[in-house]
Formats: sequence, structure tokens, C-alpha cells
Amino acid sequence: MPSRLAPCSSSRTTIFARSNTICGTRSCRSGCSMPMQSIIETARLRLRELEPDDVTDAYVSWLNDPEINRFLESRFAENTMDDVRRFVGQCRGREDTQLFGLFAEDGQHIGNIKIGPISTHHKRGEIGILIGEKSAWGKGFGREAIAGLANYAFQDLKLAKLTAGCYARNVGSRKAFRQAGFEEKAIRPAHFWCDDHWDDLVLMDRFASQSTGSGE
Ligand SMILES: CC(C)(COP(=O)(O)OP(=O)(O)OC[C@H]1O[C@@H](n2cnc3c(N)ncnc32)[C@H](O)[C@@H]1OP(=O)(O)O)[C@@H](O)C(=O)NCCC(=O)NCCS
Repeated sequence: MPSRLAPCSSSRTTIFARSNTICGTRSCRSGCSMPMQSIIETARLRLRELEPDDVTDAYVSWLNDPEINRFLESRFAENTMDDVRRFVGQCRGREDTQLFGLFAEDGQHIGNIKIGPISTHHKRGEIGILIGEKSAWGKGFGREAIAGLANYAFQDLKLAKLTAGCYARNVGSRKAFRQAGFEEKAIRPAHFWCDDHWDDLVLMDRFASQSTGSGE
């Protein structure tokens, strides 16, 4: 990944991606392939790169809530404000990762979506998502966020392929990715120990060249 951070700090720009249309462009003078600060807008969500100051008690509580973290690795340790701020700062400092907060129309932070690690050599990136506000589940926000980030990744970052993985029993995640144009390509059996059972890993991907899915 060409440098996206320190050398370009004086030319921070915002990319607005509304549905499939990029309305602004990066103006980094040193050849960055990633913008310094990105905002992606979908029909009902604003995806904005998180800063450590965005971490709230509510955000920390999502990671420690057994109902929310049932299929997340965050369940194996108690997460503190310091841990989460450090994580957000590390993502912000990486050249191969962007962590976005998902903000609803009223400004409420309802979850996060991450792209990374990104490999520029292979033109691909991995997506992970967490909708932490349980009242926002099942309303299509997962699908919408994944589809919006995919459009950004293909159009702005010029990636060719996106990948994702989830627990086989995470029906909501599998459906949200599928509805955002991902296809399930492989199963890695008995990959996770969860709820006193083995669970499979489902590997999903979406190519820039394929149709967009129903999301955006
Ligand atoms: C999994 C998650 C991202 C899904 O997001 P979401 O916004 O709730 O999903 P959507 O509303 O876009 O739903 C997509 C489809 O899945 C269905 N769905 C969502 N959650 C479901 C669940 N728990 N069980 C069954 N179906 C579910 C929806 O009904 C919808 O299907 P439909 O259009 O046929 O009705 C979200 O619930 C979440 O973040 N959960 C906690 C963390 C997590 O598991 N993250 C994923 C790690 S890979």
C-alpha cells in the first residue's frame, strides 16, 4: 500500500460516495491510493473513519455484550475504553486498514465496518462488520453498509476483490453479505469453538467485475 498517512497529512480530503457515485476526489500529492479521511454516504448511513475520541461507553459495551459478541473474537477478553481507543488509533495509523463508524441519519453511532488488511499487490481487502446497537439489527443496515463499503473499495481504492468470513451459525451475517453481492465460496469445517459446539468458517467474496447485489 503506498503511503496514505503521515506524508499526506496536509492534504486531508474527504471522499463522498453516494450510492455508486463518487462526488469528490482525493488530492494527495504524493501518489496515495487511499484517501486520508473518507466519508461514504449510503441511503441511510454515513460511514466515517473513526478516531480514538469516537469511542464511547456504548461502543465499549457492544464488545462485551454476550449477545452481540457471540460470533466475535472480542468475547474472549473484557474490553476496556483504553483497549478500544488503542485499537481505533492503531487502525487509524495503518496504511492497509480503514475502520469506519456507521452513523444513522440522526447521528447515532450504531456500529462499525472495517476494510483491512488491504493488499495492493493482490488488489483485495477483507471486510468485517459489527452493528452494536441491537435496536438497529434486522433493518438492512448491515447489507447497506457492506454494499456501500464495497462500492468505495472498488471505485476509489481500485480493488478487484473483497473477502469476508463468518461463523456458519451467524445467519444474519451470511445473509447481509449475500444481499450485498457476496458469494459463499468455501467452508472451513470446525474452525471455531462456540457455545460448546464446533462451528464452521464460511468464506465469502465479491469481485469488482460481478454484479452489484441488491444493496446499492
Ligand atoms: C450480523 C449483522 C452484521 C447483520 O446486520 P443487520 O443489519 O442486522 O442485517 P440486515 O438487516 O442487513 O439483514 C440481512 C438479512 O439477514 C436477516 N437477519 C439479520 N439478523 C438475523 C439473525 N440474527 N437471524 C436470522 N436472520 C437475520 C435479515 O432479516 C435480512 O434478511 P431478509 O432481508 O430476508 O429479512 C449484525 O446483526 C451484527 O453486527 N451482529 C453482531 C456482530 C456480528 O455478528 N458481526 C458479524 C461478524 S462476521
